[in-house]
Amino acid sequence: MRSISVAIDGPAGAGKSTVARLVAQQLHLTYVDTGAMYRAVTLQALKRGIDVTDEGAVARLANQMDIALTPADGELDVFVDGQRITEEIRTPEVTTHVSAVAGNPEVRKILAQKQREMGEEGGVVMDGRDIGTHVLPAAELKVYLTASIEERAQRRYNELVQKGYQLDWEQLKEEIRYRDEQDRNRQHSPLKPADDAVHLDTTGLTIPEVVQAILDLSRTKV
Ligand code: C5P
Repeated sequence: MRSISVAIDGPAGAGKSTVARLVAQQLHLTYVDTGAMYRAVTLQALKRGIDVTDEGAVARLANQMDIALTPADGELDVFVDGQRITEEIRTPEVTTHVSAVAGNPEVRKILAQKQREMGEEGGVVMDGRDIGTHVLPAAELKVYLTASIEERAQRRYNELVQKGYQLDWEQLKEEIRYRDEQDRNRQHSPLKPADDAVHLDTTGLTIPEVVQAILDLSRTKV
């Protein structure tokens, strides 16, 4: 029997990755973090001194890269050409430049193709911005996760402070707002809910509550 696919989209900091990973664990499905793939291309461009706004050069880079997402201890390890870059893709520097790479139509085409291949057999929980609308439009369950900008900024702040970064809360909020605006207004597969997505506002909800809500929804799809 073909397993279901779950698409989880939404703005930055809505808790998609944490929730998607836990839902995948509970349903014994494969978790695919598509943001990690855009981050991996961004990191490699920065490492090689490639201008992230040079669409041709970044697309050539994306085309040559072998990106692998490997489950490890309940988390997801990210490898590029065999090198582990799991932590490096989360630095503020990568976050600052990722919108430019995500707005590159050729890069989107290359990564969306890889993502479709990962999801073609079903059995995935994939999170991103365009999964329900573009990458897996036939996913059995589509969830659009949101939360207030204050709550999203606070979650990101806590996460980064825990990792040892010193940050300005207002600046972080602005960065999230900027990234959302870029994602919503780009020409190719912008961030928006699929027509048949279930909207879930996670403001004030705990992670287990959000996970449970999605598990309940998934039961209606099997
Ligand atoms: O999910 P995360 O915040 O790690 O994603 C990083 C960036 O990758 C987002 O800000 C967005 O610009 C881009 N992205 C995208 N489409 C996806 C997943 C992520 O454009 N499916």
